[in-house]
Amino acid sequence: MTEEGARLSELAKRRGFFFRTAAAYGGVAGFYTYGPQGATLKDNVEAAWRDRFVTREGHMEVSSPDVMPEAVFEASGHLDGFDDMLVDCPECGASHRADHLVEDATDVADAESMSPQAVGELIAEHDIACPACGVALAGEPVEEFNLMFETTIGPGSGSAGYLRPETAQGIFVEFPQLAEYARNQLPFGVAQIGDAYRNEISPRKGLVRVRAFTQAELEHFVDPEEDEPPIERVADVTLPLYSAQAQQHGGEVRELTVGEAIEEGVVANDWIAYYLGVATPWYERIGVDMDRFRYRQHLPGELAHYAADCWDAETEVDGDWIEATGFATRADYDLAKHAEHSGEDYSVFKQYDEPIAVERPTVDPDMSVLGPEFGGAAGEVADALRSLAERDPDAFDGQEVTVEVDDTAHTVPVEATGFGIEEVTESGEHVRPHVIEPSFGVGRLVYTVLAHCYETDLVDGDERTYLALPPEIAPTTVGVFPLMDKDGLGERARDVERELRAAGLAVAYDDSGAIGRRYRRQDEVGTPFCVTVDYDTLDDHTVTVRDRDSTDQKRVAIEGLPGTLRSLRDGDLAFADL
Ligand code: GAP
Repeated sequence: MTEEGARLSELAKRRGFFFRTAAAYGGVAGFYTYGPQGATLKDNVEAAWRDRFVTREGHMEVSSPDVMPEAVFEASGHLDGFDDMLVDCPECGASHRADHLVEDATDVADAESMSPQAVGELIAEHDIACPACGVALAGEPVEEFNLMFETTIGPGSGSAGYLRPETAQGIFVEFPQLAEYARNQLPFGVAQIGDAYRNEISPRKGLVRVRAFTQAELEHFVDPEEDEPPIERVADVTLPLYSAQAQQHGGEVRELTVGEAIEEGVVANDWIAYYLGVATPWYERIGVDMDRFRYRQHLPGELAHYAADCWDAETEVDGDWIEATGFATRADYDLAKHAEHSGEDYSVFKQYDEPIAVERPTVDPDMSVLGPEFGGAAGEVADALRSLAERDPDAFDGQEVTVEVDDTAHTVPVEATGFGIEEVTESGEHVRPHVIEPSFGVGRLVYTVLAHCYETDLVDGDERTYLALPPEIAPTTVGVFPLMDKDGLGERARDVERELRAAGLAVAYDDSGAIGRRYRRQDEVGTPFCVTVDYDTLDDHTVTVRDRDSTDQKRVAIEGLPGTLRSLRDGDLAFADL
């Protein structure tokens, strides 16, 4: 672990941001508990996300269960395709992500896209050893390992269920109801903030790769033929873009506005470009250092089984780039799969302004010909003719038409198919929406923000450590201290504390130790303001308000103090203008 990682873990544990779960029993890799500071910090990141991606965008929000029946993940492809490559050490038994070992030891950038066999060959070729004990891994089998946690639903053997590996499936599977709530009007977005679970082979780096984590996901359902994003709202936002082409040809990150990225075709999908434009100022708002931030496009072999294109928002922590968000185009993959597996309708009915007359091919096979000719297969041949007529009416242009049933070709005289074209009036059509998905990992954002907001400086000749968290995100908005706990100062400070809490502010009361030490304690957890009640307060009903970053102090009347602090927190007032 580098210096930054070690510093972060130490601060996180000591100050109650996060720590390993069940340490009393030795802990368990990949599980972390958020402490009092961390849980509130995480809540605040989620609230800022909800504000920007749900409320302001006018989307809906749902909350679905963490466990879903097997059928959902059979349809979604997770049962078959949600695998990582595993190699076990023959000596110490440690399990490793085989593709990561190869990427760390060679200049191969996307081993994930290779076959297990090819990865195994690279392990042998490069003499890669077990990172835990140093024994050579050459010749050890590299296997696909499914990342889902399996469980049973109900007593006894029950029925198979899985902890969801992404919150998204809880939205896709309910699409028919959700479309109704949206009155079948595209586009509409459905968001969900909730936990996801992946049995990661090698959890690592604090909150970065864990087995239980929170996602904030938005599934935006759009009509691929008609709907366009309101690009004008974000056209001037600058994006640091690291395209697949640049990665493959030694190129660099390019700073382009959303408008330029679309015009030059660097970001091919306008909806993805739109959400990159919405997200960029949001990352800054929650405290991400934009000098340690980029959007990286997935390489072709890196794409998830459902994705057509994907850009990751990456943050630099500890010398590594971390994927904090994936912006993917899932096309109609999920809705088509759930329609196919459930037999339900996963489309919306788009009403035309006026009914229109359309020509439709029809087939009415003459069973007195098909029966004697095809025997027991006659019914299936008739069905195959009907679906061929829908797909390719031109196939009926000649004297004969051929269809396949169970790998056997059957040729039928066209006159026996009853093929014809009828005119029908249609009031609308079924459209299967495409999905644009910004998917945020909340824990990785919390980790990033803690790393990026960590600052040190000198105050009165002493080194000080503080978290320069934006006031909106900071777990505590204001620390309240009596200068001393005597002469009525404590009681007065308690009154101030109560008033500030009643105004909805997050307050920490502290009366222990020297005032300087109390400031340092709040600085370390990122509290942006501190209020001190002193002897003057008893006479003139004012307090000292101190700003975390500048350490400047101002005298402010207690009357109106809650409103003033709320304005400071919400960014409506700058400390310098107090
Ligand atoms: N629904 C799409 C989806 O789940 P993903 O890229 O696999 O896409 C989305 O995950 C986000 O979830 C990632 O960008 C990352 O921030 C977070 N994430 C994924 N796996 C994680 C893990 N093992 N630990 C912590 N966060 C994780």
